[in-house]
Amino acid sequence: MAVTVSSTLNFSCVLASQTSSDSSRNLGRISSAAFPAWNRVSFVGVNLKSAGTSLGERRNGTKVIRASTPQALESYRVGATSTENVPLKELLQCLEEASVKGREVVMAAVDKPRSVDYKGATDLVTDTDGRSELAILEVVRKYFPNHLILGEEGGVSGDESSEYLWCIDPLDGTTNFAHSYPSFGVSIAVLLRGKPIAASVVEFVGGPFCWDTRTYIASAGGGAFCNGRQIHVSNKDQVERSLFVTGFGYEHDEAWATNLALFKEFTDVSRGVRRLGAAAVDMCHVALGIVEAFWEYRLKPWDMAAGVLIVEEAGGKVTRMDGGEFCVFDRSVLVSNGVIHDKLLERIAPPTEKLISDGFDFSQWYKPTGYKSEV
Ligand code: IPD
Ligand code: CA
Ligand code: CA
Repeated sequence: MAVTVSSTLNFSCVLASQTSSDSSRNLGRISSAAFPAWNRVSFVGVNLKSAGTSLGERRNGTKVIRASTPQALESYRVGATSTENVPLKELLQCLEEASVKGREVVMAAVDKPRSVDYKGATDLVTDTDGRSELAILEVVRKYFPNHLILGEEGGVSGDESSEYLWCIDPLDGTTNFAHSYPSFGVSIAVLLRGKPIAASVVEFVGGPFCWDTRTYIASAGGGAFCNGRQIHVSNKDQVERSLFVTGFGYEHDEAWATNLALFKEFTDVSRGVRRLGAAAVDMCHVALGIVEAFWEYRLKPWDMAAGVLIVEEAGGKVTRMDGGEFCVFDRSVLVSNGVIHDKLLERIAPPTEKLISDGFDFSQWYKPTGYKSEV
């Protein structure tokens, strides 16, 4: 079924619960000439689960806060349990081709002069972000013309009745890319009813004059791989022996301030907390076992959809920062090697609960209107 066509390039409706600065950052990212003929559909900001209360669900105004029991969380997985009608092989083929195209666009642009634009005071976008997204979209559309797509730069397009949703961050870590500072990548995931089935992240490593890439791929239940070799999270279970990574978004709000306090606290009690600037890549570092955990508030689905599956398939654990069941439309994420997860939550969950009780908005966001999901 074809979806509503909006005449503008911009996301036609942003989130009911989103702040004006959130929505303004989605506007006018790249010229409409770059994305000429897309069907645009809108987002649902708040996904109130209308039917009853699930595990420990609490309602707070427009927000739904799901507090899960430890047993439920134990068995909870972010990855999908089936691929439904589309064979996994086909999804992976598309994913691989799309990530190669994105990689080629970004690789062709490193060490070259950039055209930088601003979405916000410090939130950059380059022409490479848009070009990479277009190259990826061409592949996804060729394979699956009827799937729904959520791209960071172009927004929502495709068939909103589809249960498959492609989440694309064509260039994660744009600020690093713009400065030729290593740690940026191309992140793509395909979800079935809101749960990731397959994912890839291409990480750019090295630096000026010696760029290279490594590619992470995972499928639900099929393990996680880096450049074709299976990867696994670390087994460190002591905070004082651990190295962590976190991130700080462009919105300098209470969640941002709360994470600065967490940054200080964990820097004091661990081997250190890195801040690299590309969330998808940071999560892959957890999957690779070179850091024990990553967390951040207010990431978007395209930042997280691939990374969370890669971590889970590498044997790690994924929750929200209050410890609840995670889905890609949530506004906080904690991924870890699993064995250290509860120790991290002892410090991370209380300030997150405080944000919640202070009324900070943790409702789901960037969920395309009408998209049927289990989460
Ligand atoms: C950003 C990066 C960064 C994170 C920000 C994201 P972008 O993505 O992942 O690490 O801290 O919250 O928005 O804008 O470079 O694609
Ligand atoms: Ca990103
Ligand atoms: Ca991006």
